[in-house]
Amino acid sequence: MSRRRKIYEGKAKVLFEGPEPGTLVQYFKDDATAFNNKKQGTITGKGVLNNRISEFLMAKLSEIGIPTHFVRRLNMREQLIKKVDIIPIEIVVRNVAAGSFSDRFGISEGSPLPRSIIEYYYKSDELNDPMIIEEHITAFGWATPQELDEILSMTLRINDFLSGLFLALGIKLVDFKLEFGRLYEGDDVRIVLADEISPDNCRLWDIKTNEKLDKDRFRRDLDRVEEAYQEVARRLGILPEGGPRDFTRLDTVQ
Ligand code: TMP
Repeated sequence: MSRRRKIYEGKAKVLFEGPEPGTLVQYFKDDATAFNNKKQGTITGKGVLNNRISEFLMAKLSEIGIPTHFVRRLNMREQLIKKVDIIPIEIVVRNVAAGSFSDRFGISEGSPLPRSIIEYYYKSDELNDPMIIEEHITAFGWATPQELDEILSMTLRINDFLSGLFLALGIKLVDFKLEFGRLYEGDDVRIVLADEISPDNCRLWDIKTNEKLDKDRFRRDLDRVEEAYQEVARRLGILPEGGPRDFTRLDTVQ
């Protein structure tokens, strides 16, 4: 890993001080956790693939006018990002019933929803990321009503755009999680998309077979976990040259 000063280490990524003020380097690990860290493991090559997948999707979103923290990919496992204040909310979009939604409402996985549903969770490992409502967000000052409006309208555009992008690749975007941050530029503050978009925080199902191409394979002890991440990268046309054997060995660059 790099010699830069470490700012923060999360479950799947590490943030280092960036080369210029206002920037950070986001390093993608192969570590995987589920159920608030109760299940831990490694998905070989995941960091390399998520770095590419998130780069690709954030760049596409920025082309349609969604501001993001992404600047550029630096190497196999690292990308340069703008430093933001993360808003401590996870925004989950659901197009099809699955996961905790299916458990909570007793609706079988795969049932289509009458419309997309947005849920909010408070980012807190100690509290196990409790589900919250808008009232909590504004009352506790995690975001202002204006910021929340902006987050919601960006989230809906992101869902429409990504659903179409994946559909064209034969993939159903079942649900996903987003995080946003405040970007300070002079006297200006803007809300931008942050964190990552990858099979770690999306449910992606093959449109024909409903085969899971995401982290649920790890969460649920299914086989071919690595292959699922590779398949998403392959369909996006960004599987690193040389294939899996090449990138799994390359976990340190620079
Ligand atoms: P859930 O059904 O477990 O609530 O997950 C909904 C979506 O959010 C799913 O695509 C996985 C993603 N997610 C995260 O990215 N991080 C988390 O901590 C959780 C619980 C879910």
